[in-house]
Amino acid sequence: MRLRGRKGIREDIERQKELVVLNAKDYQGKWAELFGNNNPIHAELGMGKGRFISEMSKKYPNINFIGVDMYDELIRKASEKAKNAHEIKTDEEAESAPSIPNLKLMLFNIEHIEEAFAEGELERVYLNFSDPWPKKKHARRRLTHPGFVEKYQQILNANGEIHLKTDSQSLFEFSLNSFADMGLRMRNISLNLHVDGIHPDHVMTEYETKFAGQGMNIHRCEVVIGENVLASHLEQLNKAKSE
Ligand SMILES: C[S@@+](CC[C@H](N)C(=O)[O-])C[C@H]1O[C@@H](n2cnc3c(N)ncnc32)[C@H](O)[C@@H]1O
Repeated sequence: MRLRGRKGIREDIERQKELVVLNAKDYQGKWAELFGNNNPIHAELGMGKGRFISEMSKKYPNINFIGVDMYDELIRKASEKAKNAHEIKTDEEAESAPSIPNLKLMLFNIEHIEEAFAEGELERVYLNFSDPWPKKKHARRRLTHPGFVEKYQQILNANGEIHLKTDSQSLFEFSLNSFADMGLRMRNISLNLHVDGIHPDHVMTEYETKFAGQGMNIHRCEVVIGENVLASHLEQLNKAKSE
């Protein structure tokens, strides 16, 4: 992702205390307190410019959303997007009382994600168009490498799931193998998510819009992590078998 014009960016995001979290480690185990309720928390790891997380937070007010990225400029762009999506007009509005009560933008390196969240603090992790790191020597940097997935397992709760979308066939193959090697169950696997056109309820990311627009296939799957979601998934499978 190309980044330009860094001047004043840090100051800008520092001002947005209600929306932007720069000291995520301080909130480990305290995110519910920060949001002011016990609603489930869903995080997009590697949110880029933030279209997905902004629209999701608008569409689902009873879920708390956290968009994570490691670049100041992307946090700033995402904050602009969020304010537009939620129709917040002025900077003063954005700086004062929580005008987007169910959204936080977190500047953080995902490599240390377990330091930002306590055990079972999240309900869902979205990995949307994560960097594919195509060279074999960089496999450990892929966000679906078992080293990362173990961290997600730790911070997800009994209803926990990972939702993955990517245009990259090689990352998708790597991810499915990684999940399978870890003994995890996958469901709703699709090699061409938008084969019948883009469903009006589907929330698109920036990269998805670009790649789907170029006619590329979008791959998607859900990974069942938490014991509750696993139990209900198995129950559904058994029911379907006996029908
Ligand atoms: C290819 S972009 C996808 C952006 C967005 N999810 C989308 O679908 O449009 C990947 C994003 O992940 C972020 N990213 C990659 N590795 C990261 C890490 N270790 N910690 C935080 N962010 C990371 C990058 O900065 C980039 O914004």
